[in-house]
Amino acid sequence: MRKPTLAANREDAAVKIAELTGVDVDLIRRRIANDIKARNANKGLGFLSYAGILPIDLPDGTRIVVIPDVHVPAHDKLTIWAIKAFLKDYQPHILIFIGDVADVFGLSRWAKPPRVAVNQQGEIDETRRLMDALIEISGCIHVFYIMGNHEDRMMRYQSDPAPHVGGVLDFETREPILAFHGLLGYGPNDPITFIYDQAERGGFGGALLLNGDMNLHHGRIVRPKPAASPRADADETGRSTTTGHTHRVGMTVRQTTKGEIRAIELGHLVDVTHPYMSYANLTNNWHEALGIGRVVGGRIHLQPVPIKQVLVDGRPKMAFTYGGKVYRSPNR
Ligand SMILES: [Fe+2]
Repeated sequence: MRKPTLAANREDAAVKIAELTGVDVDLIRRRIANDIKARNANKGLGFLSYAGILPIDLPDGTRIVVIPDVHVPAHDKLTIWAIKAFLKDYQPHILIFIGDVADVFGLSRWAKPPRVAVNQQGEIDETRRLMDALIEISGCIHVFYIMGNHEDRMMRYQSDPAPHVGGVLDFETREPILAFHGLLGYGPNDPITFIYDQAERGGFGGALLLNGDMNLHHGRIVRPKPAASPRADADETGRSTTTGHTHRVGMTVRQTTKGEIRAIELGHLVDVTHPYMSYANLTNNWHEALGIGRVVGGRIHLQPVPIKQVLVDGRPKMAFTYGGKVYRSPNR
């Protein structure tokens, strides 16, 4: 499952991006590496993972794409097709998975429908394949993977009968042997950072803080109306916040005595007809979307882009528009 060529491919992509855009790719890479290493200095974590809120400063011109809840293998395959076409065009420097990339259905505590087959290793393998495909086609320099509550099912399930096993570390990486990222097969030399909370758990605490301007985390507070969840979150922290988790999409901007606070909710990329998604219904207010942004004037300009089912020549497709172009899937 390991792909040792991934780091080398990133180097090639970084050189290509630098030539095409004039953005100093080496500068971005150096900043990320230095930030992570400096802040991990007193923790038992390596370059591959981080526990807590990771502050990263990105230079102007850096392009960012945020991928919300994919829930492999219950992802919307047609939407992913359209997103790949977009990533090939946009070539983001930074790709951020904001949690629940894998559903980890096999280890959930919810009652399983008796006719639904579960293959946990198959889910992990498929998650890795999908991530690699998105990373490759995006040509990104670095990937951040903020752990969701679904990834934490792995640790919760396994440490339940034997909690001390959760603290056993891998000899080489010095990271917990049950860590989800280890099961995905990425190594410390891959240009990817997995962000956990301070207790090294997935779910609600770990975050990426970009340019001191935008806090990205999976999501903790849940409200029924679009954009209300990250808004409530931002009210607690006093900081602009982007979340996944709720599968709703929306954005609010408001002025406070401490300045402007944006709250962005990024939706999901799930096939709601998949058997794993039996809890999806119309009242959930779910919506497919992704986050697209760029650093301008030192600030993170990020917007949620809704993905809609549309009829083209009478045939349904999943589609979204960005930068004057339409990205759409094959026929559903
Ligand atoms: Fe989710």
